[in-house]
Amino acid sequence: MKKFFYILLLIVVTVEGFAQQKSRETIDFNKSWKFSFENNEKAITNQFNDTHWRTLNLPHDWSIEGQFSAEHLSTTQGGALPTGLAWYRKSFLMPSTAQHKIIWITFDGVYRNSEVWINGHYLGKRPNGYASFRYELTKYLKFGKEKNVIAVKVDNSEQPNSRWYTGSGIYRNVRMIMTAPIAIDQWGVFATTPKVNAEEAEVSIEVNLLNKTNKTQSVTITSSIIDADGKTIASKTSKNISIKDSTGKHFQQLKIIKPKLWSITNPYLYKIVTKVYQNNQEIDVYEIPLGVRFFNFDSAKGFSLNGKPTKIQGVCMHHDLGALGAAVNVRAMERQLELLKVMGCNGIRTAHNPPVPEFLDLCDKMGFIVMDEAFDMWKKRKSKKDYSADWNAWHQKDLEDFIKRDRNHPAIFMWSIGNEIREQFDSTGITITRELAVIVKKLDSTRIVTSALTENEPVKNFIFQSGALDLLGFNYKHEGYPDFPKNFPNQKFIASETASALESRGRYEMPQEKIELSSRDVKTQPRNADWTLSAYDNVAAYWGTTHEEAWEAVKNAPFIAGTYVWTGFDYLGEPHPYPWPARSAYFGIIDLAGFPKDVYYMYQSEWTDKPVLHLLPHWNWEKGKTVDVWAYYSQADEVELFLNDKSLGIKRKGTDEFHVKWSVNYEAGTLKAVSRKAGKIILTQEIKTAGKAFKIKATADHQLIKADGKDLSFVKISIVDENGNLVPEANHLVNFSIEGEGVIVGVDNGYQASLEPFKANYRRAFNGLCLAIVQASETTGKIVLKASAEGLQSDTIIIETKK
Ligand code: GAL
Repeated sequence: MKKFFYILLLIVVTVEGFAQQKSRETIDFNKSWKFSFENNEKAITNQFNDTHWRTLNLPHDWSIEGQFSAEHLSTTQGGALPTGLAWYRKSFLMPSTAQHKIIWITFDGVYRNSEVWINGHYLGKRPNGYASFRYELTKYLKFGKEKNVIAVKVDNSEQPNSRWYTGSGIYRNVRMIMTAPIAIDQWGVFATTPKVNAEEAEVSIEVNLLNKTNKTQSVTITSSIIDADGKTIASKTSKNISIKDSTGKHFQQLKIIKPKLWSITNPYLYKIVTKVYQNNQEIDVYEIPLGVRFFNFDSAKGFSLNGKPTKIQGVCMHHDLGALGAAVNVRAMERQLELLKVMGCNGIRTAHNPPVPEFLDLCDKMGFIVMDEAFDMWKKRKSKKDYSADWNAWHQKDLEDFIKRDRNHPAIFMWSIGNEIREQFDSTGITITRELAVIVKKLDSTRIVTSALTENEPVKNFIFQSGALDLLGFNYKHEGYPDFPKNFPNQKFIASETASALESRGRYEMPQEKIELSSRDVKTQPRNADWTLSAYDNVAAYWGTTHEEAWEAVKNAPFIAGTYVWTGFDYLGEPHPYPWPARSAYFGIIDLAGFPKDVYYMYQSEWTDKPVLHLLPHWNWEKGKTVDVWAYYSQADEVELFLNDKSLGIKRKGTDEFHVKWSVNYEAGTLKAVSRKAGKIILTQEIKTAGKAFKIKATADHQLIKADGKDLSFVKISIVDENGNLVPEANHLVNFSIEGEGVIVGVDNGYQASLEPFKANYRRAFNGLCLAIVQASETTGKIVLKASAEGLQSDTIIIETKK
């Protein structure tokens, strides 16, 4: 009896944070859910006993917790991890003070086919695994001492339903929202800046209200613009606004004098706070970000931001976070974006689905030009069990919700209504494109509508023929760029997908010229028994090309607004060109663990103004071997290479060359590159022949993290020799032990065919490196992470956590 009492205490939690005097409460609803693979329809009832179910916090992705297996081969494209069906339940008490509130539960995304019940009442189904949605709970809730139960069934069992890893479960945030009976609707405030110049910006605000009182009501609405220092710089009050029936719309116009513009180098953010009053009492508050900027796509000159010509130097990103799977974590996404920003990346394409809202918040804050993408397929399927089956019933609602949810993000400049859609090849493409463009434009006419196309013969492309696209996105076929202006007169262009080059970090094959392979060759003749691919930028999918060639084509086409390289990071699934046991993509500029491949520095040398010098490969070869040495460099005229202090000559990049190279007769020692400008040394880089693996070196990206149960420290493990040189092909099994206020939430090494689990306290190094991802608990303190391996000196790292 006593035990039962404790369990009850543990799982029935009162909704916290609610205070009656506040007009709107947004409550984190992620904690203490019960989870099970038991498919028992009785789970919808409050009497159902779930004490034997697992307790966990959301966001949660059950696929990433599983083992890679040939059993999941129907989903190799999706990563060869388990999928299936599962249930989530949460029991909670509602304070009686909440009785007169309107109460909602919001889901940022559930993969997929979620169905939700509250206290046994069915609330609805949402097939699309990337859609954000909400249900009203008000009339089904019990207040006081009686418990409430939310049950969610998630069905990702029909496979294959995706061409990449999706994750399974409630993998994004859940919130409970309580409002007054008259309140601002979901995504109910929308701001645009119809006129922007150096003197002033006009800000137009649309406020959508929901009235649940069944009576006409009169309210006062005040919107204020607040600058980044917290100062209110403009405000507008509209009195006696009557809301007749269930909804009401109201517009307000404000002005910002001498606005600070949002840009990729200085992403200045204002916010708009809208308050609703009735009888002088505040009944609702709603906040949105505001970025003031203007932009233009030009058919001859490409893209400009705030009047400044700007080439979009972007990457495509799928939504998984490597070892963390699809389960959303803000720090993990921020790290991805930080690494990309340092490379000079200024744009993100959310391939090929609505991203998590927090990802767009980060893009707003960090300054990325986002192409926000809705669909990978329409009515015609790409995978047997994909969203095409839900198209007729759901596409309109899904697209509308997507635009409404995302349209306040200043980072978004383009809405993509689809990627490589099959309807581009037949006349149904015309009707659907027009229909979708109308849906988008009705909700947001301030941005561009585009679609990523593959058919670049105008008469054969029915999406283009629809005339409804503002901007033509083209994937690959870079040889065709020069003909675009002739073939598509007066159109605007973006290279929506480029490269699809393939590499494994730290893997080098020589002679490098002989390995210019398209992936078609790789498939018929698997190159490497270990499923790796060479990291000299010389292997690509047969529909793509090398990074250098792809960038050269975009760079030299002024009418192309820019590029979104496929992809910024390796991602789970689509292990092209290899079959199982390869299980993740080779396309990334950065590997799955977040370690840059060499080509990262090619982009950095082209996309930033900072001096770059990067040498490859490593310097551990057999004596006498002819080694191809490459250097990426910038902000210098030349690079001189030295082997053991002997000059091997000076090299300069020619026009449209992105690296210099030498053929070197290998001898152990020190390889050194020196870059110079007008005779002055700019940078020097040395690579030394590594001796025997001797010790582990652990370095954390952050040694002080937040004690919030979410924040992460990414700990990089390097296998080094006695002098600290990376041992290039070391593959030791590294064991981790952790003590104190944190846990290991994932391990990785970036190897695309590793079948080790991501949730473990060990990982084999791959080409000298592996990674442990450490998460803070909610208690302030120290985390001690120890990494050890047989035959090596271990290393210990201390991470502090603070409130
Ligand atoms: C493209 C496609 C992407 C990805 C890529 C791989 O055609 O749009 O989703 O599959 O190829 O090269």
